Amino acid sequence: MDKTLAINGGTPLRRAPFPARYWGASVVGDEELALVTEVVRSRCLFRAYGDGTPHMVDDLEREARAFFGVKHALGVTSGSAALFCAMAGLGIGPGDEVIVPSLMWLSDFNAPVLAGATPVVADIDRTLCLDPADVARKITPRTKAILFVYFMGGVGHIDRILGIAQDRGVAVIEDCAQSCGASFRGRRIGSLGTVGCFSFQHNKIMTSGEGGMVVSNDALVFERAARFHDLGGLRPALAAQLDGGPQVESFVGSQFRMSELTGAVALAQLRKLDRAVVEPCRRHFGRLRRELSEACPGMRFRDSGDPEGDAGIGLYLDLGTPERGIWFGKALAKEGIPVGATTHACNLLRSEYVQARRQPHAAMPPFGPGCPGHAAHYAPELSPGTDPILNSMVAVMITPCLTDADVDDIRDAVVKVWQAGNGWEGTGVAAPGPRG
Ligand SMILES: Cc1ncc(COP(=O)(O)O)c(C=O)c1O
Repeated sequence: MDKTLAINGGTPLRRAPFPARYWGASVVGDEELALVTEVVRSRCLFRAYGDGTPHMVDDLEREARAFFGVKHALGVTSGSAALFCAMAGLGIGPGDEVIVPSLMWLSDFNAPVLAGATPVVADIDRTLCLDPADVARKITPRTKAILFVYFMGGVGHIDRILGIAQDRGVAVIEDCAQSCGASFRGRRIGSLGTVGCFSFQHNKIMTSGEGGMVVSNDALVFERAARFHDLGGLRPALAAQLDGGPQVESFVGSQFRMSELTGAVALAQLRKLDRAVVEPCRRHFGRLRRELSEACPGMRFRDSGDPEGDAGIGLYLDLGTPERGIWFGKALAKEGIPVGATTHACNLLRSEYVQARRQPHAAMPPFGPGCPGHAAHYAPELSPGTDPILNSMVAVMITPCLTDADVDDIRDAVVKVWQAGNGWEGTGVAAPGPRG
């Protein structure tokens, strides 16, 4: 093996491209085809009625309840729609505050805003999820919910967030879009807080191209979310999930109903989620953590309240400082390794529309004149830890299609770059530095 780093003109450790980049999408196959074919042949594409008996979305919801260990599940059109339904489910509106992490997807900011509530941005910690200490600082009497984003398979310190929420009497919305199938100390994420939201968009762990789900153990939250997703009404299949019957009067809702075609693909994906995606990813993830810990003394990984529960879709190396992280990421990429999060997320406080607080109509709550969020201010200084932490980390993407030989290459490349750079760790080998 050429020990000279590729970034310094050496031979890249890996030349062949890695297999498929996405998770659920990479295992789409006969199971999806069989269920979609059944829907097409039935000519029943709508979940609520048809000339035959539609059942895919109903089956998906039933099997999801068992899989995630929740009482209620609702198929919707996207992860964003799931978040909008969660806001309606919790009755969140003008005057309320929702704590959201700085590192997130745009929908996590947009959902409270479109409900009229004010997002309050809290920093992340070295789990890349919400920092419980900053959440505790940012809670006010107006806080209605904490929106916890499980970033790229990781479970963060959700236990501490749940504890804070319980003490302060606020709801927890779990955004599981990037971590479907992960668990915290044996319990599936999505079942731990007040309401869980999933996305089945193409780059997710489980996919139907577009799609999403809301899960909850709270009948009232579920009924409100279900009504919101269907113009305020509640059709029999969803009413049937309510043991005590409906409790809520109809109200103005949106239309986020899942189609039978989407339900068919999502159902096939759910049935093989563990076997085809989460288990292989976790196996590679566990192996890399073990072997790299041995081969690279001093190497750190992103922090976690439960590394065993991580969905295993990305191994985050924590290089300690942004300078090292940025250099290490570039050097590893040059060795031919898939580096960087495939699911996009951003420091929300750097988004121009967030800083400008631009909404569909300037007079709307929360930011309109005279509205409770009119004085809200969004700027990167409000989450000073986010960029340094994010840039200190190097994400190595793990997909279910990796072979053991692919994982060997990832390990060997990380070891190669680490050994070339580990003067940092005081082993006496000079660090090549950014230009080496
Ligand atoms: C954390 C997070 N939340 C919500 C969403 C929104 O999901 P969708 O694209 O299905 O609306 C995404 C999508 O990338 C996400 O990453």
